Amino acid sequence: MYDSKARYVRSLFSKVPLEYDLLLGLLSFGQDRKWRSFVVEQADPMADSLVLDVATGTGLLAADFANAIANNGLVVGVDLTLSMLQTAKERLRQRGLSGRTDWVLARAESLPFRENCFRSASISLALRNVSDARLTFREMARATAPGGVVISLDFARPPNRVFRLFYYDYLLGLFPIFGRIVSQAWGRTLSYLGRSILKSRTGTQIATLMVEEGLSDTRPVPLTQGIVYAVYGKKQS
Ligand SMILES: C[S@@+](CC[C@H](N)C(=O)[O-])C[C@H]1O[C@@H](n2cnc3c(N)ncnc32)[C@H](O)[C@@H]1O
Repeated sequence: MYDSKARYVRSLFSKVPLEYDLLLGLLSFGQDRKWRSFVVEQADPMADSLVLDVATGTGLLAADFANAIANNGLVVGVDLTLSMLQTAKERLRQRGLSGRTDWVLARAESLPFRENCFRSASISLALRNVSDARLTFREMARATAPGGVVISLDFARPPNRVFRLFYYDYLLGLFPIFGRIVSQAWGRTLSYLGRSILKSRTGTQIATLMVEEGLSDTRPVPLTQGIVYAVYGKKQS
């Protein structure tokens, strides 16, 4: 069943898959590659690992994981928006990564996998988008094997006030205008993005949620002046 937020999010993302990677690069000042590298480094997948990427979108992080494993490993990307998954599948096929990836249309809050099967489970730039973040972490923790890691990377409100002033001008003023120049769909998506970042959880709040869902050794790490936080938790062996 799709609730109203899931339907809204799906309608937003279903219209923007082709330009998504480019616009993320602009919004992140080109830092998004570094953020993903950090996530892969923290997850530390082995050559034959089974890796889960929840709300995978166009598969940017899934591709980095696929490059970090070998042909006997597998990255499974899950998303509720079909056109995002189709774009992910095609882009990774073009990069020769089809054999290491699989795509599943499903919701983060109800993952269609057995318990304890993945070495790591990630959710990147999407915790604000899911309808139920607690349930999402519960599901990610359930599907992760003991000793494995659950990682969230998400936009946040930067702690430095001066930096925040400039960043908010960019995010809430310039960026939606730029989006509207590209298309009406992008105008809507980018103004939603700005509003959702203003309501985002802090790294500490995300870590607390992870602990409440049974993960340990949690660690929030600010990246790029705290534009995003990577939060890491471990499933006990
Ligand atoms: C901003 S994109 C992030 C994509 C990608 N993870 C990245 O880092 O670029 C958000 C994605 O989350 C997906 N999404 C939102 N809510 C979801 C949910 N409840 N379950 C699964 N996917 C969801 C959307 O369809 C969209 O593809």
